[in-house]
Amino acid sequence: MEKVLSREGAWELLTKYNQDAFHLKHALTVEGIMRWFANELGYGDEADFWAIVGLLHDLDFEQYPEQHCIKSQEIMRENGIDERIIRATASHGWALTVDIKPEHEMEKVLYAVDELSGLIGAVALMRPSKSVQDMELKSVKKKYKTPAFAAGCSRDVIQRGADLLGWDLDDLISKTILAMRSCEEAVNSATA
Ligand SMILES: [Fe+2]
Repeated sequence: MEKVLSREGAWELLTKYNQDAFHLKHALTVEGIMRWFANELGYGDEADFWAIVGLLHDLDFEQYPEQHCIKSQEIMRENGIDERIIRATASHGWALTVDIKPEHEMEKVLYAVDELSGLIGAVALMRPSKSVQDMELKSVKKKYKTPAFAAGCSRDVIQRGADLLGWDLDDLISKTILAMRSCEEAVNSATA
């Protein structure tokens, strides 16, 4: 029988497989972003669920980068995690490592913001404030169009995510900046 996963339980599982500070910060950032989007898009009563999907989405990446989104399903199943969480987290590897297409709006948001949040985070580090609080869309667009900048953040994946959601790219980036503003302070204090 599947158990209801608490935030505490999710954190325990995450930190069992992840020690790298960069990975933990990314997990916490995507958690906060997912919570913001749940509220923004009218899924406020499921915000905790969206947040846990964000927190756990890269569970296997640190130890099993070659089996990303595959190994995570196995680990989560062994731990009796809700199949909805297993499916939702694995779907961000769609067209990359798995055939699980994002269907639910939550899954599409995860797919769209994962790489984009890395790019926005890299843009923030270039700024005197090191923050997204005073960041505008145009700063991100400029860097987005520079392929060498944060080259590991796939523009193809970000665009595919926007297409899945049916949003234009500017709208996706603007919303993701707002989502990152909402959680920046909490993420910084949790990782200080
Ligand atoms: Fe990720």
